[in-house]
Amino acid sequence: MDVTGKRMNKKERAKERREKRHEEISRLRTIPYSDHQRWWSAETIAVVTGGNRGIGFEITRQLALHGLTVILTSRDTVAGEEATKILLEQGLKVVFHQLDIVDHKSIDIFCAWVKEKYGGIDILINNAGVSHNTGSENSVECAEKVINTNYYATKNMTKAVIPLMRSSAEGARVVMVSSRLGRLNGRRNRIADVDLRRQLEEVESEDIIDFTMNKFLEQVKDGSWVIGGWPQNNTDYSLSKLAVNAYTRLMARILSERPEGQKIYVNCCCPGWVKTAMTGWAGITPPEEGADTPVWLALLPGQSVSGKFFAERREINF
Ligand SMILES: NC(=O)c1ccc[n+]([C@@H]2O[C@H](COP(=O)([O-])OP(=O)(O)OC[C@H]3O[C@@H](n4cnc5c(N)ncnc54)[C@H](OP(=O)(O)O)[C@@H]3O)[C@@H](O)[C@H]2O)c1
Repeated sequence: MDVTGKRMNKKERAKERREKRHEEISRLRTIPYSDHQRWWSAETIAVVTGGNRGIGFEITRQLALHGLTVILTSRDTVAGEEATKILLEQGLKVVFHQLDIVDHKSIDIFCAWVKEKYGGIDILINNAGVSHNTGSENSVECAEKVINTNYYATKNMTKAVIPLMRSSAEGARVVMVSSRLGRLNGRRNRIADVDLRRQLEEVESEDIIDFTMNKFLEQVKDGSWVIGGWPQNNTDYSLSKLAVNAYTRLMARILSERPEGQKIYVNCCCPGWVKTAMTGWAGITPPEEGADTPVWLALLPGQSVSGKFFAERREINF
């Protein structure tokens, strides 16, 4: 067999495996949680950022279907209220609040409101994100915006919410909707500098993550990013998610020191290549499926896993 034939076979086999896994997940999704597994109730409060559309809307819908109270947040009030109305009409327990994660004041107002109204939260889904590349484009014109939103704003939101997370035997949960593109140790699309990769994997403080983002943004400004050894595909977006993943590792370690009963588990995941505005509707996964792993992760019964990366309900190396 020639090289092209072998490659086709490999691709076909990968497609077959993917399809099988999707079938398996569709089956798993039909299995209801038993009473024993359901650690949550209508008093459990989940917050979803960027809940007005796409994967965030689906995460909100699915969590509410499981019987939690979900706070659908959106930077645009009209869009958020419209999305909430759709879910309320389906009889779901969804409450809207405005939240623009890049706006510190908006985060403060949101946190003060949530504390006053509910006393705290149990689950935070950091879903809000932006990308200005679709397909194989690799523009970095919007690098600052992408890194500010996907990494810095997600980090600020997480820091603001952690003091509000309620103590429970099952532990509070933070789920980062990240991307496989941001894997540190993937075979492709990774940072060339081995030492930097090692430092980001060991991640002793957020300084190394911020340093990496600043270095990249400086190179974007002077045009040298092309030869900087950064991920080759969707560079700015991949780096923003790589930062989210590294921050997940760091937070999981810091939070693991909390005493039993006050645990907060932090994990990140990839929803797949999803048919939303972000991919120009070109993705292959419907948003209902894209939302599956983040929802499954948020609800894991008896969970003690933290600082890991998941895709299609499986832990993968990141
Ligand atoms: N689609 C995929 O294939 C894919 C793959 C891997 C990871 N992801 C991740 O999945 C998440 C959801 O993406 P999606 O595909 O559902 O994209 P989407 O349809 O473009 O939705 C993005 C959501 O994020 C919100 N958002 C952006 N900036 C925000 C800010 N500053 N404050 C609050 N909300 C903000 C958007 O609000 P507006 O409506 O106001 O813009 C929108 O609700 C993102 O983190 C994305 O990186 C997606």
